[in-house]
Amino acid sequence: MPELIIVTPEKQPGVATIQLNRPKELNALNLQLMGELRDALVELDANTNVRCIVIHGNQRAFAAGADIKQMADKTAIDMLMIDQFSTWDRIRKTRKPIIAAVSGFALGGGCELAMTCDMIIASESAQFGQPEIKIGVMPGAGGTQRLTRAIGKAKAMEMVLTGKFISAVEAERYGLVNRVVADEIYLDEAMKLAATIATMSPVAVMLAKESVNRTYETFLDEGLHFERKNFYLTFASEDQKEGMAAFVEKRAPVFTGK
Ligand code: HXC
Repeated sequence: MPELIIVTPEKQPGVATIQLNRPKELNALNLQLMGELRDALVELDANTNVRCIVIHGNQRAFAAGADIKQMADKTAIDMLMIDQFSTWDRIRKTRKPIIAAVSGFALGGGCELAMTCDMIIASESAQFGQPEIKIGVMPGAGGTQRLTRAIGKAKAMEMVLTGKFISAVEAERYGLVNRVVADEIYLDEAMKLAATIATMSPVAVMLAKESVNRTYETFLDEGLHFERKNFYLTFASEDQKEGMAAFVEKRAPVFTGK
């Protein structure tokens, strides 16, 4: 049984939900949670009663990123050997459509997870960001690639290099999310969208998802691979150790460029 997610295979006819459930840590994505998420998606993909999947967090956080405490003392080689991205690669291979229902923080790996899904429904209080730069690293699970494709180079560059968050309304204006709705109904709205998709031919849906993704899949593979290596490389720097230690110790980091 998973401990850090709640899986409901038939929340509605044809629609499964997965709730990320580490509320105290703002759903920080540690290795266990990501492993459970991968396993759940593999199971739901094989469950013929399920035609669409909704992933959500809670009102305060979709997910505030990969677990900084779990990564803080890791070396570049540790990161390489842990190979967490094979989990992300498997998630990306899910054949059924996945909708991210986002409220509160969707930061770093949290923003990347939402972008790995096929559509995003945001609540008015959702905030999106790639703040890795503030802790001495960079996005590693597709942020530099998917964000740039979704919102364009200028906006993506600013978010990735300054760590600034954007609001749900900005995210909609830039084309990152499908729509923004009131906090009270964001999950219902995602369920409605999922229910509509669940009435379609599952075969046609699967093939259509694959085809839309194919518009950029080849370049994406290349880009993800490149980003991953650079993400690992940041773990060879003193700035990564300083940046993550500063987060854990709740102080401002001092970066030296080493
Ligand atoms: C571990 C985290 C966390 C994270 C929050 N927490 N984000 N723990 N990893 N990513 C923990 C805090 O340490 C704290 O625990 C508790 O959750 C509540 O968070 P606070 O900081 O007290 O809340 P608040 O002041 O409201 O600030 C919210 C926040 C801030 C702005 C979202 O928590 C924040 O900046 N988080 C980190 C965001 C980030 O840098 N994400 C990118 C991570 S790197 P305690 O024990 O103190 O109560 C990344 C790489 C992806 O994602 C690539 C690989 C997959």
